[in-house]
This record gives sequence, structure tokens and C-alpha cells, in this order.
Amino acid sequence: MSKKQLKEFPNITLQQDDIDAIISFPDIFGRKKPVHIEVGSGKGTFLVNEAKFQPQINFLGIEWANKYCRFTVDRIGRWALGNVRVIRADAAVFIAEHIGAESVECFHIYFPDPWPKKRHHKRRFVCAANLEQMTRCLKKDGLINIATDHAEYFQWMMEVFDGFKDKFTTVEFVKPAGANENENAGTNFERKYLKENRNIYTAAFRKI
Ligand SMILES: C[S@@+](CC[C@H](N)C(=O)[O-])C[C@H]1O[C@@H](n2cnc3c(N)ncnc32)[C@H](O)[C@@H]1O
Repeated sequence: MSKKQLKEFPNITLQQDDIDAIISFPDIFGRKKPVHIEVGSGKGTFLVNEAKFQPQINFLGIEWANKYCRFTVDRIGRWALGNVRVIRADAAVFIAEHIGAESVECFHIYFPDPWPKKRHHKRRFVCAANLEQMTRCLKKDGLINIATDHAEYFQWMMEVFDGFKDKFTTVEFVKPAGANENENAGTNFERKYLKENRNIYTAAFRKI
């Protein structure tokens, strides 16, 4: 992690303490545009690149780790990207409690923590309860995009989606505009894993 002084940009950071109900996207972005949410946005590489390529989209990054949130906010602020907001929160709780029904065009879930030990599987973000919530939040034809290097978690995720066959159809994974030629999602973790020649698994689902 960089040791440079991180700048704070209060217009980019959403404060959990200020939010006690369903958030109004037009209010937090200051405009009415389609909303994409990245779950576990890490150091913000996807958000920075995608927000540049898609200025007509409002991006919300939800990230649990404070140091990554601060790092991301610093990057977004320095690039003066007005179409990104970042919140430090548990995405499962935040989505369930603060994201409105049929308000989101796309969820991006890139390299979610795989929690490989069986006794930790219950911590995996992609599970029936969270998928139920994302289904509620997505607009009709809204998308969930997934990428991971973890074969077993990928298989697990496909099985979770199998239980939602009546709600989603499988579609081609279209790589984000901000990803480089050899990349699938263009995130920090993907860059690291590609250097290690790991296989990357992708999937995309459209709400029926
Ligand atoms: C393996 S990293 C991937 C980061 C980024 N998506 C990438 O590909 O570079 C997983 C990230 O998800 C965050 N995370 C894990 N569980 C989360 C949750 N429930 N809510 C929000 N963020 C979470 C972690 O803090 C971490 O930054």
C-alpha cells in the first residue's frame, strides 16, 4: 500500500452514520443516471477506470476495509471523477438495508474473498440471502457480473445462481470498458493473478 498522504474528499465518501434509510441515488450523485454497484471495491482500480470510460453511469463502491476505502477515495478525487461514491460498509448489510428496490442496473463482484475453508463458507458474499437482496435491487434486465480466480468458489456461485433460475438468465460476460486487452475485469487483484498465470472465471446474469 502506498505511503503517500491520502487526501479526503467528503463529496465522494458516503458516511454510514448519515444514512438511516433507503438512499436516494439522485441525491447522493446530484443527478439521475443508471447506477452500478461494485461489491468489495478494494483499491478502486475498476471504479477509477470504468468511471472514466462511462461518465454517464453513477458508480457506488462498497468496501469493508477502511484503508482501501480511503485509498480509493483519494484516487477518485485526484482524477476528479464526479460519478463515483464510496462507502465503508458490509455490502451484505448495506444492500439489504439501504438500497432501494429496482434501483440498480448492475452489480459488479470481482474477486470476492473466497473463504476457502469449509467452516468459513458461510462468510462468502455470494450466497442465497445476498442474491435475494441483489435480485430485489436490480431493475428488470439488470446485470450481475462476476469474476474470480477461485475455481471452487466459482462453482459454488454457479450453484447459488442455479437456485435462482426463475429470476435470472445466463448471458455473455462483457468485459468492462476500462479493462485492458488481456484482462477480464481490470481490477487490482486480477492484475496480480494474471501475473501468476492463474485461470480467471467469469459469469454474467441478467434479471428476467
Ligand atoms: C480479494 S479483494 C478484491 C478487491 C477488488 N474487487 C479487486 O478485484 O481488486 C476482496 C475485497 O472485498 C472486500 N470485502 C469483503 N467482504 C466484504 C463485504 N461484506 N462488504 C464489503 N467489502 C467486502 C475486502 O475488504 C476486499 O477489499
